[in-house]
Amino acid sequence: MTGHLTGKVAIVTGAARGIGLAIAERLATDGALLALSDLDGEALAQAGVKVAKLTGKKPVLVTGDLADQHVSKKLVDDTVAAFGAVHVLVNNAGGGIIKAFAEHTPETLKATIDRNLWTAIWACWHVLPLMRAQKYGRIVNLGADSVRNGLWDHAAYNAAKGGMHGLTTGLAREYALDGITINTVAPCAVNTPQMEAITKSAPALAAKFISVIPMGRPAEMAEVASMVSYLSGSEASFVTGQVISVNGGSTML
Ligand SMILES: NC(=O)c1ccc[n+]([C@@H]2O[C@H](COP(=O)([O-])OP(=O)(O)OC[C@H]3O[C@@H](n4cnc5c(N)ncnc54)[C@H](O)[C@@H]3O)[C@@H](O)[C@H]2O)c1
Repeated sequence: MTGHLTGKVAIVTGAARGIGLAIAERLATDGALLALSDLDGEALAQAGVKVAKLTGKKPVLVTGDLADQHVSKKLVDDTVAAFGAVHVLVNNAGGGIIKAFAEHTPETLKATIDRNLWTAIWACWHVLPLMRAQKYGRIVNLGADSVRNGLWDHAAYNAAKGGMHGLTTGLAREYALDGITINTVAPCAVNTPQMEAITKSAPALAAKFISVIPMGRPAEMAEVASMVSYLSGSEASFVTGQVISVNGGSTML
């Protein structure tokens, strides 16, 4: 396999399905060796088989809750043990519990922050010392354009993703002289299996979410993965601290 990530080692979190799996497949096609992690061990194993077919090498697989810092540390440690380095970290684990703020419970509020923000904080915390020592690193977070457009029912989710956007700018400045870039890719709606299910079960709700997108459709997963691929490469060396929307124009500027 040759591509712009040949010789690079990339971690993708939340890689068992959806956008995370699309990113893992894209980075594998670009030549990277992969370490994948997810809560869902069974689906992660299936993702591992798909990625191995693309890279010719078994990916590192770590099953567990990445909001637990010990799972995050194991992911980084296992990756270094298998491949000797970590060049790219894609913080994709997450997903919304999308409901009106008043309808949340203490549990759903905590879960929203845990899965969308703590997962990224711990992964960054464990990987950045290695990246600083090797004077090279690319961190790409999956944020959300709903932070910018204030989409209905997204307040709690936006609190988590907005935290991730803030982590991006703060870390980008702290690590700017270390050869490390930190950016966020912020989709609006994406055509995942989950989105397909919403379109079937609640077409009015799906249409409401799409109504804010001038292009009139959700992003394809490959369109999101393409931006992640660019930001994961050495060519993106002067892009840092950015929240880049892949959103069909749902916010502009
Ligand atoms: N789908 C969209 O329209 C959309 C829009 C904007 C942002 N995003 C973001 O993109 C990312 C991927 O979205 P998706 O639609 O593919 O989601 P998804 O729910 O289909 O997949 C997310 C994966 O992350 C894993 N995960 C969640 N919490 C975890 C944890 N604590 N530890 C380990 N794994 C965990 C899940 O098990 C799942 O496999 C998420 O961060 C999401 O918030 C999605």
